[in-house]
Amino acid sequence: MPALVLLGAQWGDEGKGKATDLLGGSVDYVVRYQGGNNAGHTVVVGDQKYALHLLPSGILSPGCVPVIGNGVVVDPAVLFSELSALGERGIDTSKLLVSGNAHLITPYHTTMDKVTERFLGSRRIGTTGRGIGPAYADKINRVGIRVQDLYDESILTQKVEAALDFKNQLLAKLYNRRAIEAGRIVEELLKYAAELRPYVADTTLVLNRAVDEGKVVLFEGGQGTLLDIDHGTYPFVTSSNATAGGACTGSGVGPTKIDRVIGILKAYTTRVGSGPFPTELFDDDGEALRRIGGERGVTTGRDRRCGWFDAVIARYATRVNGLTDFFLTKLDVLTGWERVPVCVAYEIDGKRVEELPYNQSDFHHAKPVYEYLPGWSEDISKAKTFADLPKNAQGYVKALEDMSGAPISAIGVGPGRTETIEINSFI
Ligand code: GDP
Ligand code: IMO
Ligand code: MG
Repeated sequence: MPALVLLGAQWGDEGKGKATDLLGGSVDYVVRYQGGNNAGHTVVVGDQKYALHLLPSGILSPGCVPVIGNGVVVDPAVLFSELSALGERGIDTSKLLVSGNAHLITPYHTTMDKVTERFLGSRRIGTTGRGIGPAYADKINRVGIRVQDLYDESILTQKVEAALDFKNQLLAKLYNRRAIEAGRIVEELLKYAAELRPYVADTTLVLNRAVDEGKVVLFEGGQGTLLDIDHGTYPFVTSSNATAGGACTGSGVGPTKIDRVIGILKAYTTRVGSGPFPTELFDDDGEALRRIGGERGVTTGRDRRCGWFDAVIARYATRVNGLTDFFLTKLDVLTGWERVPVCVAYEIDGKRVEELPYNQSDFHHAKPVYEYLPGWSEDISKAKTFADLPKNAQGYVKALEDMSGAPISAIGVGPGRTETIEINSFI
C-alpha cells in the first residue's frame, strides 16, 4: 500500500492529527500538501500533548520523514518556532524536507489578511489571520515568493518589490495604513535562508522515488472538504484545495499512484469562523458538545460552533474525494445522550433534498431533516474492538456508515494514540 491520503471530511478539526500520528509508526513519509499554519492538529502521546500547525504530524514518529510539499504556504518564523519547540521536547526534527517550490508567507501577507477581514466587517470570513489567503492570492497572481527565492538576493528583492508595489497602494489609499518597505521584508526573509537550507529539497522527486520503491507515503490534509476553495462552502472557505486532488497538485505525485483516500469524520459536526452550517446547535446540546468534546480552536483559541452529524456532508465528502474509508472520531463524546439526532437530508424551500446543493443560497436555506438514533450511557473509552461497544453505539456507527457511502475502518474513542478501534487495517 504505497500511498494514501488522509483528509478532513467536514469543516476541519476532525482529528486528522491523531489519525496521522496513529499511522505514523508504519509509514515512511508524511506529507503536508496544502494550507499552512492555519491548521491546528493535536496529537496526544501518553501524557504528552502536541499542537502542530505547519509541520506534518508524522514528525512525532521517529522513523518517518516529514515533508512540506510545494502546495503548502510556509511562514518561516512559524516553521522555526515550531521546530525549536519540538526540539526542546526532545523530538528529532532533522529529517524534515521542505519543497523549494513552496510559497512563503511574509509579514505583508499577515497584514493583508487582517486588514481585509476588518474591511469586510460583517461579511468577514473569520480567517485565522495567518496570511493564508493573501499568500495563495499572490501565488495565483504570479507575484508570490518561493522558498528557492531565498537563495538569490537580487531575485528576492525584485520579487518582493513587485509584490509590494500594488499592495502598498492598497494599504495607503484604501486601508489608511503605512506602506511596507521592501528592504525590511527582504532582510527579515534572508534571516531564515541559511537555517532553512539543509531542509530544502526537490520533494516531488523524493516522493515519487519513494512511492516507486514501495515506501509508504501518507498525505496529511489540513482543513476539510467543506473548507476547500473549489468544493467547499465558498466564499466561507480556506484558499487551497483541502480535498483529495490537492494531494496530487500539492506534492507532484500523480493520482494513479494513490491507493487509498481516508476521510476523517467526527461523530458530530463542528465549524470555526463564518459560513453556513445546517445542523448548528444554539442550545444546551450545542454547549454540551463543545464542553465534552473540548471544542476550542487549537490555532486561534476560538470556541468551535457545534452541531449534530450531517450525513449529507459525509456523502458529499465521499463523492468529491473518492473516499475509500472513513476514520470516525470522537464517538466517546456522544456518550450520555438518550437519543442522538442525525441529519439525513435537508429541506430547502419545502422540498426534501438528499445531496448537498451546489447553489450557495440553497445551502444557506437548508434545514436539517433529522432521524433519531438510540443513544448509550456506558463508558466506551476503553473499547478495543467493535464488539466491545454497546449495541446502540454499534448501531450509530453502522447507521453512519450506511448513510455516508464508505466503510468506517477505524473509530476514535478518546484523544490518545491507543484510544482507537481498528476495524480494517489501513496499511
Ligand atoms: P485536526 O485539526 O483535524 O487535527 O483536529 P484538532 O486537533 O484541531 O481537533 C481534534 C481534537 O479532538 C483534538 O483535541 C484531539 O486530541 C481530539 N480527538 C481526536 N480524536 C478523538 C477521539 O476519538 N475522542 C476524543 N474524545 N477526542 C479526540
Ligand atoms: P485544521 O487543519 C478549522 C477556517 C477559518 C476560516 C476559514 C478561512 O486544524 O482542521 P484561513 O485562515 O484558512 O484563510 O481561514 O477556514 N479554517 C479552519 N477551521 N480547522 C482548520 O484547520 C482551519 N483552517 C482554516 O476558521 O473560517
Ligand atoms: Mg485543527
